[in-house]
Amino acid sequence: MATPYAYFKKQIVPLEEAKIGVMTHAFNYGTAVFEGIRGNWNAAEGQMYLFRLKEHFDRLRKSCRIMRIEFPYENEELYSIATKIVEMSGYQEDVYLRPLAYKSSEVLGVRLHDLEDDFLVFIAPFGPYLDIEKGARCCTSSWRRVEDTGIPARAKITGIYANSALAKTEANLNGFDEAIMLDERGHVSEGSGENIFVTRDTVITLAREELGIATVERDIDRTELYTADECFMTGTAAHVTPVVELDRRQIGDATMGPVTRRLSQLYFDIIRGKNPKYVHWCTPCYSRVKA
Ligand SMILES: Cc1ncc(COP(=O)(O)O)c(C=O)c1O
Repeated sequence: MATPYAYFKKQIVPLEEAKIGVMTHAFNYGTAVFEGIRGNWNAAEGQMYLFRLKEHFDRLRKSCRIMRIEFPYENEELYSIATKIVEMSGYQEDVYLRPLAYKSSEVLGVRLHDLEDDFLVFIAPFGPYLDIEKGARCCTSSWRRVEDTGIPARAKITGIYANSALAKTEANLNGFDEAIMLDERGHVSEGSGENIFVTRDTVITLAREELGIATVERDIDRTELYTADECFMTGTAAHVTPVVELDRRQIGDATMGPVTRRLSQLYFDIIRGKNPKYVHWCTPCYSRVKA
């Protein structure tokens, strides 16, 4: 049976022992930065592969710099913590690792300076986030994505997720699966939990290397999505999820399109360590695997 473990106050402990106090600065003011890393279960090999660890920890380091969080960990140490937690927890299903660096002082006062910092990692079983085969029915959110001039979305700051939560709940309560947010200029920004960088970079690489499709990065208007042949979202949680409807307008024929399907097939093999060309993106966690 699987038992979740966490890295907390510089030790690996059972998850149930990893507790923070009510006055913790990050809890009160959203002054933490985090990552979400998927562990993808390969049943045939009896192995769990963590996907693109380096890129996730590199991004965490940048988020820490923006939020003035001291983060004295080398990548090798982080890989070791991550794989140990996975191995000790013993899940035989897809999991999600949540590294989180935070302002840990138990004091009142909004600021980033003169506070202690700490770092934790926990694990949770985590299946599909959206229905990938059926695709997502989306709406354009009435909430705008926060700008770099407000709270920088370049950093994965816990406090910024109030913005995502407002958008996601509005979408769900109105009967949609997901919200697509516009930026302040009215261009398409991202979903409440999908798009920027790690998975996006994976998909851009696969499109170029495997399908010979170049990616053009430019401003996109909302109505371009209405008239697109295919549309999909990417994200550590969402993987590659087709968007089949936006604002009650069908996109393409409202099913997963051929380019999305091809990319998705490549992606799902790769994250489970099944494609030798991209195995460098996958870190195995279990030392005793099936022969
Ligand atoms: C707001 C937001 N954007 C984008 C993503 C996609 O992130 P990743 O770079 O891990 O694929 C996430 C997380 O999954 C997210 O929460």
